[in-house]
Amino acid sequence: MSFANKTVVVLGATGVIGSGAVRKYLDAGATVVGVSRSAQNLDALRERIGIGPSESFLGVVGDFVRESSAEEVYQSVTAALGGREIDHVVSVLGFAVVGNPPTATSLDVMRGALDDGLINNFLAAKVFLPGLKSRPGASYTIVSGGLAHMPPPMPGLWLATVKNAALNALSNSLASETAKDEVRVNTLCVHFGVAPVGGKQNQFGMPAESDTLRLGPAFLGVARGTQKGQIICLDSWATTDRIAAQ
Ligand SMILES: NC(=O)c1ccc[n+]([C@@H]2O[C@H](COP(=O)([O-])OP(=O)(O)OC[C@H]3O[C@@H](n4cnc5c(N)ncnc54)[C@H](OP(=O)(O)O)[C@@H]3O)[C@@H](O)[C@H]2O)c1
Repeated sequence: MSFANKTVVVLGATGVIGSGAVRKYLDAGATVVGVSRSAQNLDALRERIGIGPSESFLGVVGDFVRESSAEEVYQSVTAALGGREIDHVVSVLGFAVVGNPPTATSLDVMRGALDDGLINNFLAAKVFLPGLKSRPGASYTIVSGGLAHMPPPMPGLWLATVKNAALNALSNSLASETAKDEVRVNTLCVHFGVAPVGGKQNQFGMPAESDTLRLGPAFLGVARGTQKGQIICLDSWATTDRIAAQ
Protein backbone atom coordinates (compact mmCIF):
# COMPACT_ATOMS: atom_id res chain seq x y z
CA MET A 1 0.00 0.00 0.00
CA SER A 2 1.31 3.40 -0.96
CA PHE A 3 0.97 6.25 1.49
CA ALA A 4 1.15 8.79 -1.34
CA ASN A 5 -2.08 10.55 -0.44
CA LYS A 6 -1.79 10.04 3.30
CA THR A 7 -0.84 12.45 6.05
CA VAL A 8 1.13 11.13 9.00
CA VAL A 9 2.02 12.95 12.23
CA VAL A 10 5.03 11.64 14.15
CA LEU A 11 5.13 13.00 17.72
CA GLY A 12 8.72 12.50 18.85
CA ALA A 13 10.02 12.61 15.28
CA THR A 14 13.58 13.49 16.30
CA GLY A 15 14.02 10.51 18.63
CA VAL A 16 15.72 7.18 18.02
CA ILE A 17 12.49 5.39 17.18
CA GLY A 18 10.51 8.28 15.71
CA SER A 19 13.22 9.13 13.18
CA GLY A 20 12.99 5.70 11.54
CA ALA A 21 9.21 6.01 11.27
CA VAL A 22 9.60 9.42 9.60
CA ARG A 23 12.13 8.07 7.09
CA LYS A 24 10.00 5.07 6.13
CA TYR A 25 6.76 7.04 5.79
CA LEU A 26 8.56 9.52 3.52
CA ASP A 27 9.95 6.61 1.49
CA ALA A 28 6.35 5.41 1.03
CA GLY A 29 5.28 8.82 -0.29
CA ALA A 30 3.41 10.17 2.72
CA THR A 31 3.23 13.78 3.81
CA VAL A 32 4.85 13.67 7.25
CA VAL A 33 4.56 16.23 10.02
CA GLY A 34 7.33 15.78 12.59
CA VAL A 35 6.96 17.36 16.04
CA SER A 36 9.82 18.25 18.38
CA ARG A 37 10.46 20.79 21.12
CA SER A 38 13.40 22.13 19.17
CA ALA A 39 13.86 23.59 15.68
CA GLN A 40 17.55 22.62 15.87
CA ASN A 41 16.62 19.00 16.53
CA LEU A 42 14.33 19.08 13.49
CA ASP A 43 17.19 20.46 11.35
CA ALA A 44 19.48 17.73 12.68
CA LEU A 45 16.80 15.15 11.83
CA ARG A 46 16.63 16.39 8.22
CA GLU A 47 20.39 15.88 7.97
CA ARG A 48 20.51 12.54 9.81
CA ILE A 49 17.88 10.75 7.76
CA GLY A 50 18.57 12.65 4.53
CA ILE A 51 15.26 14.43 3.98
CA GLY A 52 15.43 15.88 0.47
CA PRO A 53 13.86 19.17 -0.68
CA SER A 54 11.31 17.34 -2.80
CA GLU A 55 10.08 15.23 0.12
CA SER A 56 6.92 16.28 1.90
CA PHE A 57 8.20 16.83 5.44
CA LEU A 58 6.81 19.56 7.68
CA GLY A 59 8.52 20.31 10.98
CA VAL A 60 6.47 21.68 13.88
CA VAL A 61 7.97 22.90 17.16
CA GLY A 62 5.89 22.27 20.24
CA ASP A 63 5.86 20.76 23.71
CA PHE A 64 3.39 18.33 25.29
CA VAL A 65 4.11 19.71 28.71
CA ARG A 66 0.64 21.01 29.57
CA GLU A 67 -2.88 20.96 28.09
CA SER A 68 -2.61 24.44 26.57
CA SER A 69 0.72 23.75 24.87
CA ALA A 70 -0.56 20.40 23.59
CA GLU A 71 -3.53 22.21 22.04
CA GLU A 72 -1.08 24.67 20.44
CA VAL A 73 0.83 21.75 18.90
CA TYR A 74 -2.41 20.42 17.44
CA GLN A 75 -3.29 23.83 15.98
CA SER A 76 0.22 24.19 14.50
CA VAL A 77 0.05 20.74 12.92
CA THR A 78 -3.35 21.35 11.35
CA ALA A 79 -2.14 24.75 10.09
CA ALA A 80 0.96 23.13 8.58
CA LEU A 81 -1.26 20.63 6.76
CA GLY A 82 -3.31 23.46 5.31
CA GLY A 83 -6.68 21.82 5.69
CA ARG A 84 -5.69 18.25 4.84
CA GLU A 85 -6.99 15.78 7.40
CA ILE A 86 -4.67 13.58 9.45
CA ASP A 87 -4.66 9.86 8.57
CA HIS A 88 -2.12 8.36 10.95
CA VAL A 89 -0.48 9.42 14.21
CA VAL A 90 2.58 7.86 15.82
CA SER A 91 3.06 8.87 19.46
CA VAL A 92 6.62 8.06 20.51
CA LEU A 93 7.30 10.78 23.03
CA GLY A 94 9.98 10.52 25.68
CA PHE A 95 12.29 7.84 26.92
CA ALA A 96 12.81 5.87 30.11
CA VAL A 97 14.58 7.28 33.14
CA VAL A 98 17.30 5.21 34.83
CA GLY A 99 17.68 5.95 38.53
CA ASN A 100 17.78 4.44 41.98
CA PRO A 101 15.66 1.58 43.33
CA PRO A 102 12.07 2.58 44.18
CA THR A 103 12.48 3.38 47.87
CA ALA A 104 15.57 5.49 47.15
CA THR A 105 13.85 7.52 44.43
CA SER A 106 12.68 11.06 45.11
CA LEU A 107 9.15 12.10 44.28
CA ASP A 108 10.51 14.70 41.83
CA VAL A 109 12.37 12.00 39.88
CA MET A 110 9.28 9.78 39.85
CA ARG A 111 7.08 12.64 38.62
CA GLY A 112 9.67 13.64 36.03
CA ALA A 113 9.84 10.10 34.66
CA LEU A 114 6.07 10.02 34.21
CA ASP A 115 6.01 13.51 32.69
CA ASP A 116 8.66 12.43 30.18
CA GLY A 117 7.14 9.26 28.80
CA LEU A 118 3.55 8.92 30.00
CA ILE A 119 1.94 12.31 30.57
CA ASN A 120 3.21 13.75 27.28
CA ASN A 121 1.71 10.79 25.40
CA PHE A 122 -1.55 11.26 27.32
CA LEU A 123 -1.72 14.96 26.40
CA ALA A 124 -0.96 14.10 22.78
CA ALA A 125 -3.86 11.63 22.68
CA LYS A 126 -6.21 14.20 24.21
CA VAL A 127 -5.66 16.59 21.32
CA PHE A 128 -4.98 14.28 18.35
CA LEU A 129 -7.23 11.25 18.86
CA PRO A 130 -10.70 12.88 18.81
CA GLY A 131 -10.25 14.13 15.24
CA LEU A 132 -9.34 10.62 14.03
CA LYS A 133 -12.37 8.85 15.51
CA SER A 134 -14.56 9.07 12.42
CA ARG A 135 -11.75 9.02 9.84
CA PRO A 136 -11.91 5.77 7.78
CA GLY A 137 -8.59 3.92 7.78
CA ALA A 138 -7.10 6.13 10.48
CA SER A 139 -4.61 4.73 12.99
CA TYR A 140 -3.10 5.94 16.25
CA THR A 141 0.01 4.05 17.32
CA ILE A 142 1.75 4.48 20.67
CA VAL A 143 5.21 3.09 21.44
CA SER A 144 6.09 1.45 24.76
CA GLY A 145 8.75 -1.00 25.86
CA GLY A 146 9.04 -4.63 26.88
CA LEU A 147 10.14 -3.72 30.41
CA ALA A 148 6.39 -3.25 30.97
CA HIS A 149 6.01 -7.01 31.27
CA MET A 150 8.84 -7.99 33.61
CA PRO A 151 10.50 -7.26 36.91
CA PRO A 152 13.23 -4.77 36.04
CA PRO A 153 16.51 -6.61 35.34
CA MET A 154 18.33 -3.93 37.37
CA PRO A 155 16.59 -2.09 40.27
CA GLY A 156 17.35 1.30 38.69
CA LEU A 157 15.25 0.39 35.65
CA TRP A 158 12.02 0.21 37.64
CA LEU A 159 10.84 3.59 36.33
CA ALA A 160 10.98 2.18 32.81
CA THR A 161 8.86 -0.79 33.95
CA VAL A 162 6.27 1.52 35.53
CA LYS A 163 6.26 4.00 32.63
CA ASN A 164 5.90 1.32 29.94
CA ALA A 165 3.24 -0.62 31.85
CA ALA A 166 1.31 2.62 32.30
CA LEU A 167 1.68 3.43 28.60
CA ASN A 168 0.23 0.02 27.71
CA ALA A 169 -2.64 0.66 30.12
CA LEU A 170 -3.21 4.11 28.56
CA SER A 171 -3.27 2.55 25.12
CA ASN A 172 -5.79 -0.09 26.22
CA SER A 173 -7.94 2.69 27.66
CA LEU A 174 -7.82 4.75 24.47
CA ALA A 175 -8.65 1.61 22.48
CA SER A 176 -11.63 0.98 24.74
CA GLU A 177 -12.85 4.57 24.25
CA THR A 178 -12.61 4.19 20.46
CA ALA A 179 -13.78 0.56 20.14
CA LYS A 180 -16.79 1.55 18.01
CA ASP A 181 -14.97 4.24 16.03
CA GLU A 182 -13.10 4.05 12.75
CA VAL A 183 -9.68 4.77 14.20
CA ARG A 184 -7.53 1.83 15.27
CA VAL A 185 -5.51 2.45 18.43
CA ASN A 186 -2.58 0.08 18.92
CA THR A 187 0.72 -0.03 20.75
CA LEU A 188 4.05 -1.27 19.48
CA CYS A 189 5.72 -2.61 22.62
CA VAL A 190 9.41 -2.87 21.75
CA HIS A 191 11.22 -5.65 23.66
CA PHE A 192 14.83 -4.99 22.62
CA GLY A 193 17.32 -2.21 22.10
CA VAL A 194 16.92 -0.03 19.02
CA ALA A 195 19.96 1.92 17.84
CA PRO A 196 19.99 5.32 16.18
CA VAL A 197 20.60 5.30 12.40
CA GLY A 198 23.77 3.31 11.74
CA GLY A 199 24.39 2.61 15.45
CA LYS A 200 24.81 -0.56 17.47
CA GLN A 201 23.41 0.39 20.89
CA ASN A 202 20.39 2.13 22.35
CA GLN A 203 20.53 4.89 24.96
CA PHE A 204 20.90 2.32 27.78
CA GLY A 205 23.95 0.83 26.05
CA MET A 206 21.87 -2.24 25.25
CA PRO A 207 23.15 -4.03 22.16
CA ALA A 208 20.96 -3.52 19.12
CA GLU A 209 21.49 -5.77 16.16
CA SER A 210 19.45 -3.36 14.03
CA ASP A 211 18.69 0.31 14.03
CA THR A 212 15.60 2.48 13.73
CA LEU A 213 15.50 2.14 9.95
CA ARG A 214 14.68 -1.55 10.35
CA LEU A 215 12.00 -0.81 12.95
CA GLY A 216 10.40 1.97 10.87
CA PRO A 217 8.46 -0.31 8.47
CA ALA A 218 6.58 -1.85 11.41
CA PHE A 219 4.73 1.48 11.80
CA LEU A 220 3.61 1.29 8.18
CA GLY A 221 2.54 -2.33 8.73
CA VAL A 222 0.31 -1.38 11.65
CA ALA A 223 -1.13 1.59 9.74
CA ARG A 224 -2.20 -0.57 6.78
CA GLY A 225 -3.12 -3.59 8.92
CA THR A 226 -6.36 -4.55 10.63
CA GLN A 227 -5.24 -4.63 14.27
CA LYS A 228 -7.41 -2.67 16.65
CA GLY A 229 -6.83 -2.30 20.37
CA GLN A 230 -3.73 -4.48 20.40
CA ILE A 231 -0.55 -4.31 22.43
CA ILE A 232 1.71 -5.69 19.71
CA CYS A 233 4.79 -7.09 21.41
CA LEU A 234 7.80 -6.85 19.15
CA ASP A 235 9.80 -9.54 20.96
CA SER A 236 12.33 -10.13 18.18
CA TRP A 237 13.40 -8.59 14.91
CA ALA A 238 11.72 -11.53 13.14
CA THR A 239 8.38 -10.52 14.68
CA THR A 240 9.08 -6.91 13.74
CA ASP A 241 9.75 -7.86 10.12
CA ARG A 242 6.49 -9.88 10.07
CA ILE A 243 4.45 -6.90 11.27
CA ALA A 244 6.22 -4.71 8.73
CA ALA A 245 5.34 -7.10 5.89
CA GLN A 246 1.59 -7.32 6.59
N1 LIG B 1 15.38 3.22 21.95
C1 LIG B 1 15.12 1.98 22.34
O1 LIG B 1 15.97 1.08 22.25
C2 LIG B 1 13.76 1.61 22.89
C3 LIG B 1 13.50 0.26 23.14
C4 LIG B 1 12.26 -0.11 23.64
C5 LIG B 1 11.30 0.86 23.88
N2 LIG B 1 11.59 2.18 23.65
C6 LIG B 1 10.54 3.15 23.94
O2 LIG B 1 10.27 3.93 22.79
C7 LIG B 1 9.88 5.23 23.19
C8 LIG B 1 10.76 6.26 22.48
O3 LIG B 1 12.11 5.98 22.74
P1 LIG B 1 13.28 6.69 21.91
O4 LIG B 1 14.46 5.80 22.09
O5 LIG B 1 12.83 7.03 20.55
O6 LIG B 1 13.46 8.03 22.79
P2 LIG B 1 14.23 9.38 22.37
O7 LIG B 1 15.28 9.09 21.37
O8 LIG B 1 14.62 10.04 23.65
O9 LIG B 1 13.10 10.25 21.64
C9 LIG B 1 12.07 10.87 22.37
C10 LIG B 1 11.34 11.86 21.48
O10 LIG B 1 10.30 12.46 22.23
C11 LIG B 1 10.32 13.87 22.03
N3 LIG B 1 9.75 14.47 23.24
C12 LIG B 1 9.95 14.10 24.53
N4 LIG B 1 9.19 14.82 25.36
C13 LIG B 1 8.49 15.68 24.58
C14 LIG B 1 7.52 16.69 24.84
N5 LIG B 1 7.14 16.99 26.09
N6 LIG B 1 6.99 17.37 23.80
C15 LIG B 1 7.37 17.11 22.52
N7 LIG B 1 8.29 16.15 22.21
C16 LIG B 1 8.84 15.47 23.22
C17 LIG B 1 11.78 14.21 21.79
O11 LIG B 1 11.84 15.38 21.02
P3 LIG B 1 12.85 16.61 21.26
O12 LIG B 1 13.84 16.20 22.32
O13 LIG B 1 13.49 16.84 19.91
O14 LIG B 1 11.97 17.70 21.68
C18 LIG B 1 12.20 13.00 20.95
O15 LIG B 1 11.84 13.19 19.61
C19 LIG B 1 9.97 5.27 24.71
O16 LIG B 1 8.70 4.95 25.25
C20 LIG B 1 10.96 4.17 25.00
O17 LIG B 1 10.82 3.68 26.32
C21 LIG B 1 12.78 2.58 23.14
